[in-house]
Order: sequence, then C-alpha cells, then structure tokens
Amino acid sequence: MNKVFVPPIKCQGIKTKLVNWILEQVSLADDGCWIEPFMGSGVIGFNLRPKKAVFADKNPHLINFYRAIQKGDITPVKAKAFLESEGEKLSRDGQAYFNAVRARFNREGSPWDFLFLNRSCFNGIIRFNSKGGFNTPYNHKPERFAQAYVTKITNQIDYVSKAMKTGDWEFVCADFRDVISRATAGDIIYCDPPYLGRHADYFDSWSEANERDLAGLLADTSAHFIISTWHSNQYRQNTALKKYWNGFATLTREHFYHVGAKETNRNPMLEALVMNFEPDALMGGSRRYSDAEQMVLMEKSVPYRTTTPASARRRKAIKSKC
Ligand SMILES: C[S@@+](CC[C@H](N)C(=O)[O-])C[C@H]1O[C@@H](n2cnc3c(N)ncnc32)[C@H](O)[C@@H]1O
Repeated sequence: MNKVFVPPIKCQGIKTKLVNWILEQVSLADDGCWIEPFMGSGVIGFNLRPKKAVFADKNPHLINFYRAIQKGDITPVKAKAFLESEGEKLSRDGQAYFNAVRARFNREGSPWDFLFLNRSCFNGIIRFNSKGGFNTPYNHKPERFAQAYVTKITNQIDYVSKAMKTGDWEFVCADFRDVISRATAGDIIYCDPPYLGRHADYFDSWSEANERDLAGLLADTSAHFIISTWHSNQYRQNTALKKYWNGFATLTREHFYHVGAKETNRNPMLEALVMNFEPDALMGGSRRYSDAEQMVLMEKSVPYRTTTPASARRRKAIKSKC
C-alpha cells in the first residue's frame, strides 16, 4: 500500500480511501495525458503525479485555488502566515468570524477565503445555494487552526505545488463534455461524477441526461477511461450500471462510509470501477486481491474488448434505451 497524499482542499465524496485501488488499474505512458474532468479534491491524480495532466471541474473555486498555487500567489510560506492570522481571529470571535469570511468570500471569491472556509466548515463540505453562494455551516471549532493543523495544511500545499512543477499540468474550469472531447489514444480519463439521485447543489448537480451524455462520450473515446460509481448498498442496486455501463469491465470493492463521528455508524457500500479496457485482474494477471475485494463481471455474455464497432454498438444501445 502506498502512503496516500491528502490534498489541501476537501470535498464530499473524496476518494482518499480508494486511491490505491483506483491507481492499481492505471498504466499511463509518459507521453499520455491524465484527464480528470471531475477533479473535486484532485486526490486521485495528485497521488499519481502524471507528467501531463488536465484537472477540470465545473466549480470555479477549486480551479482558482490550484491556479493560484501554480502562479505562486499561494505558497506554503504565505499559507502558514495566512492561516495563523485567520486562526487567531477565529479563536477570538468563533462563529461571527466564520460568517464574516463566508460573506466576504461570497462577495469576492478569494481562493484564500475558500481555503479558510473549507478547513473550518462542517466536514469540509463544499456546498453552494441556488445563487452560487457558499452556505456550508461552521464546524464550531474555534481552535481549528492550531499549530499542528496549520503545519499539516501548509505541507499539503507544499506537496501539490512541487508535484505540479514536475509535470505539465493544466487546471480547467469546464463542463465534462468539453474536457472529454480533448482526449486522444494513449490518454487516460478518470471520471468521478456526482452520484445520480443525490442532493444537488449549484456546481455539483447530476442528472440522467448528464449520465447519458457521459456514457455516450466515453463509449466513443479512443482513450482509456475509468469511471467511479456505486454498485449497490444494503438497500439498493445502482440501476444506471446496467442502463449506461453495460458491457464494460467492472471491478467492485466494499467500502464503508462514515455517518457522523461514531465508529459504529458505518454504512457499507459496494463501490464500482467501470473501464473500457481489461484490468490485469481479469486477464489472469499476477496481482493479488485481498479478501475484502471482490470482482464482478457485469453481463458476462457481453465482450469486453473495446474495438470501435463494439463501442458504436454500445452507444446505439444506450441511445435506444433513453
Ligand atoms: C464526487 S466529486 C469528485 C471527487 C473527487 N474524485 C475526489 O476524490 O475528491 C464530483 C465533482 O464533479 C464536479 N461536477 C459536477 N458536475 C460537473 C460537470 N457537469 N462538469 C464537470 N464537473 C462537474 C463537482 O463540482 C465535484 O467537484
């Protein structure tokens, strides 16, 4: 197991615990581009550290934050000073100070305030109201920015700023449709879209039409793709898997989501990775999977190879079902 780097900005659905499993499926040549149209926290690509990458998201605040690091506007030294001084004000005025920074961020959109809010709001949730205003509540921890926490965040910024200097990385604010169309053979597209049917917010909503468009674009791409989704939980199966992703290779693995702080509040979920290539594990590769991991071949009768005619057939099938 490789040690996983955790990025400076958190988000709901962050895949920290699945990084190693996802990256085990990835084999990217030096001249291939890593394309991540739903970057969120960026934890998957940042741990891969590809030479060439496009990190994209519809949320402009995520992209502005990483562009500010790229331009040198946000550095580890400046971040330490900022978090120490903002931390002092939070410790003095608590909720009132959090509210003031939130109001300022909603007027001015500074990436510094985005960092402050993300690390002092409830569970690091990035949530925006229907007017695009950040509205996640305060986590009620006035001593949040204690020295150890400031050092942790500063180190996270240091890691990512060094990683982006070693490669050719682009940060793009765009809808996934505009990003996927840039991929060519030899690239890998990793998609982690919001889950269908989940509560929607201003930047982070997802519809059946989005899922259909994503499936159509990926069926046609000449690049390799991997998409993260859910397979089933104790109550339901993900019906979108059969409807949109039938015929692709699928790996699953049990994962526990924590609800609240208690260790006992764990909800098991079977996570799925759908891909248009055969992972080593399905090819009789030498990799060994732990007992916790299971592999499910969806629709065994459908061929897995993604030659152009098969992709075209799938696309047609997807269209006819909608
Ligand atoms: C589940 S999160 C990604 C989490 C990420 N893989 C991680 O581990 O941190 C989904 C992301 O998709 C973005 N998103 C939602 N709709 C989008 C769209 N139409 N185009 C591009 N990004 C979108 C959201 O802003 C959010 O950051």
